Amino acid sequence: MVWIEELKEHVGKEVTLKGWVYNKRDSGKIRFVILRDGTGLLQCVFAKSEVDEATFELADLANQEALVKITGTVREDKRAPGGVELSVRSLKLMADSENYPITPKEHGIDFLLSRRHLWLRSRRQHALLKCRDTLIRAFHEFFEKRGFILIDPPMITPTSCEGATTLFEIDYFGEAAYLSQSGQLYMEPAAAAFGKVYCLAPSFRAEKSKTRRHLTEYWHLEPEVAFLDLAGDMELAEDMLLCVVRGVLEHRADELKLLGERIEGFDKHTELLKNLDKPFYRISYDDALELLKGKAVQMKWGEKFGADEEAVISREFDRPVFVHRYPKASAPFYMKEDPVNPKVVLNFDLLATEGYGEIIGGSQREDDLAKLEAAIERQGLPREPLEWYLDLRRYGTFEHSGFGIGIERTLAWITGIHHIRETIPYPRLIDRIYP
Ligand code: 4AD
Ligand code: MG
Repeated sequence: MVWIEELKEHVGKEVTLKGWVYNKRDSGKIRFVILRDGTGLLQCVFAKSEVDEATFELADLANQEALVKITGTVREDKRAPGGVELSVRSLKLMADSENYPITPKEHGIDFLLSRRHLWLRSRRQHALLKCRDTLIRAFHEFFEKRGFILIDPPMITPTSCEGATTLFEIDYFGEAAYLSQSGQLYMEPAAAAFGKVYCLAPSFRAEKSKTRRHLTEYWHLEPEVAFLDLAGDMELAEDMLLCVVRGVLEHRADELKLLGERIEGFDKHTELLKNLDKPFYRISYDDALELLKGKAVQMKWGEKFGADEEAVISREFDRPVFVHRYPKASAPFYMKEDPVNPKVVLNFDLLATEGYGEIIGGSQREDDLAKLEAAIERQGLPREPLEWYLDLRRYGTFEHSGFGIGIERTLAWITGIHHIRETIPYPRLIDRIYP
């Protein structure tokens, strides 16, 4: 038994394959079955003169997504997708598939999302999730090369990290517990233990709004580094993003091309990504307010940027832009106060190009025990479940920084996909938990 992706090494030989019927065509005395086995598509040619009658008839009757076993000779064909096609000798139906719901015609998004378990077999979804695989591997490779240690954070936590409004509460043997919003608080002690660490795990956000960039469960990659300040943190984010973008462009050119067929302006988008280089832009929150004012978007100092404002800012730049030093009043408790201006914190959001908005959020962490205690108090957070976190500031407190990047938002940006729901195998949205 061979896989379709291996067939180039079997030209001229007879092979047997298993796969699902992806599509069919006929022309006179020839039948074509496009076979799909997960590793590729293969055109199988049934010539009436070369197969027995039963096989020829089966080629006509086999339903979409029926499982078949096919034996035939591999022929080189430069025009075929994998460079080869199969001259069939025999075909056996292994398992039928009646009325497969996802036909080659257009379907609505809700119809498809309700059949996500089957939709994964379609070409575009297949291409997208292969890009996801490559992206995640590129992340791991980047951090491994730099000597980072992978540390897995817990998913069940006693506290919030990113504010109470998006917390999923669970009943933990009679006590309230929460699904993790971020591994950060657990990466900080790990940075004291190992110097350079990162995690890749799901984060949960009870996002009550429907947008094209919010999932309730997403995959979150978070590095944390000792002796790193805000400037160094932004450099790390920049190097990492360049590396993974290049990795996907290099290894998934075919998949990106397929995805681009249905995306307006895709060529321009890939050109921009291909030419991406450092340095990315760096502007302060104050600069961003000025920029917005120039675009007739009036905001008061202290207000948070929404998706619309981020889109306006990012469209002004041909590379991603770091917006740093946001107002302290609306920042999470753990961000370090700027010693130069205590009204702001040492943090950043990285906005992707072309209006995609924030894909990374990071900061230098507060390392002063008294300041951190004050922030916890000011925000009315329960102190007891955070005692362990305060220990880091008691036993050899240290300068450290990190950031979090959402896998799905990054993938949507690189592949040019409008909505992030297609960038994860099984999306969880405010109105969707099935399948
Ligand atoms: O900006 P956020 O909330 O930052 C943190 O959680 C920090 N604790 C990270 C850290 O410093 N270690 O989230 C970081 C990133 C966002 O920039 C975005 O890419 C992604 O996580 N993200 C989401 N992705 C999909 N759906 C959501 N609901 C998301 N919320 C955040
Ligand atoms: Mg953020």
